[in-house]
Amino acid sequence: MRPAYDLVVVSNRLPVDYQPGAADSEQWRPSPGGLVTALEPVLRERGGVWVGWPGVADLEVGPFEIDGMPLIPVPLSEQDVERYYEGMANGTLWPLYHDVIVSPEYHRQWWEAYLEVNRRFAEAALAVAAPGATVWVHDYQLQLVPRMLRDARPDLVIGFFNHIPFPAHGLFSQLPWRRQIVEGLLGADVVGFQRTADASNFRRAVQRLTHLRIRGDLIELPQEGREVLARPFPISIDAGAYQELAKRPDIWARAKEIRRELGDPKVVLLGVDRLDYTKGILHRLKAFGELLEDGDLDVADVALVQIAAPSRERVESYKHLREEVEMMVSRVNGDFSSLGRPPITYLHQGYPRDEMVAFYLAADVMLVTALRDGMNLVAKEYVASRVDLHGALVLSEFAGASDELRQAVLVNPHDIDGLKAGILQAARMPPGEQARRMKAMRRRVISHDVQRWSATFLGALSGENRGDG
Ligand code: F6P
Repeated sequence: MRPAYDLVVVSNRLPVDYQPGAADSEQWRPSPGGLVTALEPVLRERGGVWVGWPGVADLEVGPFEIDGMPLIPVPLSEQDVERYYEGMANGTLWPLYHDVIVSPEYHRQWWEAYLEVNRRFAEAALAVAAPGATVWVHDYQLQLVPRMLRDARPDLVIGFFNHIPFPAHGLFSQLPWRRQIVEGLLGADVVGFQRTADASNFRRAVQRLTHLRIRGDLIELPQEGREVLARPFPISIDAGAYQELAKRPDIWARAKEIRRELGDPKVVLLGVDRLDYTKGILHRLKAFGELLEDGDLDVADVALVQIAAPSRERVESYKHLREEVEMMVSRVNGDFSSLGRPPITYLHQGYPRDEMVAFYLAADVMLVTALRDGMNLVAKEYVASRVDLHGALVLSEFAGASDELRQAVLVNPHDIDGLKAGILQAARMPPGEQARRMKAMRRRVISHDVQRWSATFLGALSGENRGDG
């Protein structure tokens, strides 16, 4: 018999991805995205189990442990990856929930696969959940799982957290399966969102698609004799871990080395994103190129480092974006480079956390210019890393982090002139002002870290704490 756990986390990906062909010790690598950073500490602390996909199609592996953390792999076939992950999750829901920056596609086959795979995840969670266990389901890939769990096991306490935005009803109502999604989510006791606007968009969808009564944050389900709490729980990072790294002399030495390798410019600008159309990378590069062209920034003084981690590379819109970004990088570099000194250093790679902190410490200006983003943990990682109070953050008002980091230079990335003004303001910000703003932002990130986030969510789930997040 399998062991039973009192806390079960269910997410599309396990915290580690399988690396085919790698040496034994390298077989499992941290998977992409902010979820890992957010949940790993919680699970370790509470001795729970993590249910998710190992990141490679057709891989059959049994339960295993990474550093003492039990993991239950859910296999996906090549066809599941095409229809459920690349299709319904990232070809339909992702663009729809990010305000249709690219057009969502609606295919019935994708929906069937989504239903089927959600059922598989639910079954895997049910197999390891102890009586009365808490099951915490994550993100848009698994919105049907809460209802499946509740129907099978009313004894469970079920939470759902949506890491990405929840769209306004005018957009959500495009979805042919909108009612099933709402009903799926209402299987949970607590449905958490990043921002106040996301939670109210969801409650509005409930209002329009069901006959349920809503009182403040609570949705009443009289036939089931229960209520669903739908409200924001803005996610955060393990701020302490970033601070620790940012105090290490070897990481400072690496930061200095990075600046040296860039030719010791006066101002280093940094962008760190998955290569995703929601992140506003093209808008950022356009603004930077125009600042060089206008002569507001001098190529002898500035360097932009753009880290763009590979993501969803078989999805058409991602392939297209990569081409556009790489074309724009070469155009700006072609126009403004001097020998051995390109204005943009483009890195289509992911990096481990210690190297990321070195990049953050090397950067005078951090550019987070997403067109739409649930939270954006990179913004918070930058702030947590700047123990020296140096640096300025340019932050899109369309990223959830802008609700909390009000002392950033807030920009609308669609407004290229406004974006250019924001970048210049950050690049020219006097040290005193940098320190004042950074101090205030750090206070927020350090006091509202991921430990507080998960404690608040789990508290709300146990009915003890429906506090302010
Ligand atoms: O935060 C949104 C999210 O889709 C996470 O669920 C995921 O971990 C991350 O982005 C990376 O995306 P993917 O798992 O599709 O590579």
